[in-house]
Amino acid sequence: MRIRQHVNPLKANFFQIAVEPPDLPAGVPLEVELGSAEAHFLMARAAEDPARFYVGVEIRRDLVALANATCERQGLKQVRSVFANISVDLPRLFPAGRVSRFFLNFPDPWWKTRQHKRRVMSPELVVELSGLLAEGGEIYLATDVFDIALDSMAVLEYDSSRRFANRREPWTFLPESPFAARSRRERQCEVADVRIWRLGYRRI
Ligand SMILES: C[S@@+](CC[C@H](N)C(=O)[O-])C[C@H]1O[C@@H](n2cnc3c(N)ncnc32)[C@H](O)[C@@H]1O
Repeated sequence: MRIRQHVNPLKANFFQIAVEPPDLPAGVPLEVELGSAEAHFLMARAAEDPARFYVGVEIRRDLVALANATCERQGLKQVRSVFANISVDLPRLFPAGRVSRFFLNFPDPWWKTRQHKRRVMSPELVVELSGLLAEGGEIYLATDVFDIALDSMAVLEYDSSRRFANRREPWTFLPESPFAARSRRERQCEVADVRIWRLGYRRI
């Protein structure tokens, strides 16, 4: 199957996706990866912690189909990928207060200044994620682009409503991932010895 390398999330047809919300098992903690690609990270999380439910949100439809087929083949019933646009569809996918953790692993292929408007982390997204997270819920972001790490940190630290607290100290990166699971891009960076900037925030 030929998988597209990138799509433009600002294209009009990505604002009208007929999203199919995943069936969420009651009483089971839910972790969500935004921009989950082939969902390698969530499959590894499910192996690490099988008692949770995992949903990947991805705008490349072919990758969603591929990830779901792989999970079905491997009997990973607690991992689902959904075709949706992070920028508009999150409230249709998850009830308020339902999510335990959001992961943004290498969220943004468009990191140049002129493409700033396409960045995934924004003040609007912080408000949205805060509403979907359970009390004490967390956001983790990992990127190899320092600009994106700093920009995302500024958005979370400067939030005037103080919705999130840095898991360490204010304006501090995590020294390492608290999880054993790795996304595909994360593994590539580790193999190539590329520096990864990690953020962890907890909803207050
Ligand atoms: C650089 S890749 C990282 C994939 C994976 N998280 C990893 O670490 O290997 C970013 C992913 O986010 C997806 N993406 C970008 N913008 C999106 C949006 N608005 N809604 C949903 N997915 C999006 C892309 O299609 C791509 O698969």
